[in-house]
Amino acid sequence: MSKVVYIVGSLRKDSYNKKLAERMQEVTGGEVVCLNDMVFMNEDLEANPPKVVSDLREKVVSSDRIVFVSPEYNYTVPGTLKNAIDWLSRPYGDNKPAIIGKSAAVCGASLSFIGTARMQKDLKGILAMLGVKFYPKDLFVSINMETGTWDEQTDERIVSFAEGL
Ligand code: FNR
Repeated sequence: MSKVVYIVGSLRKDSYNKKLAERMQEVTGGEVVCLNDMVFMNEDLEANPPKVVSDLREKVVSSDRIVFVSPEYNYTVPGTLKNAIDWLSRPYGDNKPAIIGKSAAVCGASLSFIGTARMQKDLKGILAMLGVKFYPKDLFVSINMETGTWDEQTDERIVSFAEGL
């Protein structure tokens, strides 16, 4: 089984995206990482980065696959997630950024029927210029506003997506 790290783009306690990451973790194992304690990218901190940054880098470097599980904010990638990617894109051990050449999957949940599709397109654009290799499957999760969760068919798609990671 490959070692997977799930990076969640929402800081919300009851985040649907965190729940989505945890559902996939039930299938694949691995680790769910939330960015609540992340600091803003600041080049002044790069020489001696905060522990939260070095911990994230280590998790990414030691993983076989990163899975970005994120909401869509204003049709694009939440700033929290972009900030974490900015840290991962910068020189690190032997001047090799943690994210370069990694394998990554992108998915997300929202209340919209297109389930974060616009965010995913933009996120893939950012990751592509960092030389990330993409997992070939898509996953768009629509949350039912009345039940506050996804339906059974969607759950099957989530499990199938996770099984291939
Ligand atoms: C949103 N939301 C949202 N949803 C969407 O489908 N497309 C969008 O462009 C936006 N834009 C947006 C901007 C901001 C600032 C917020 C706070 C929210 C709604 C979003 O999908 C909803 O709040 C989800 O519940 C967020 O995901 P989590 O926190 O539940 O994981």
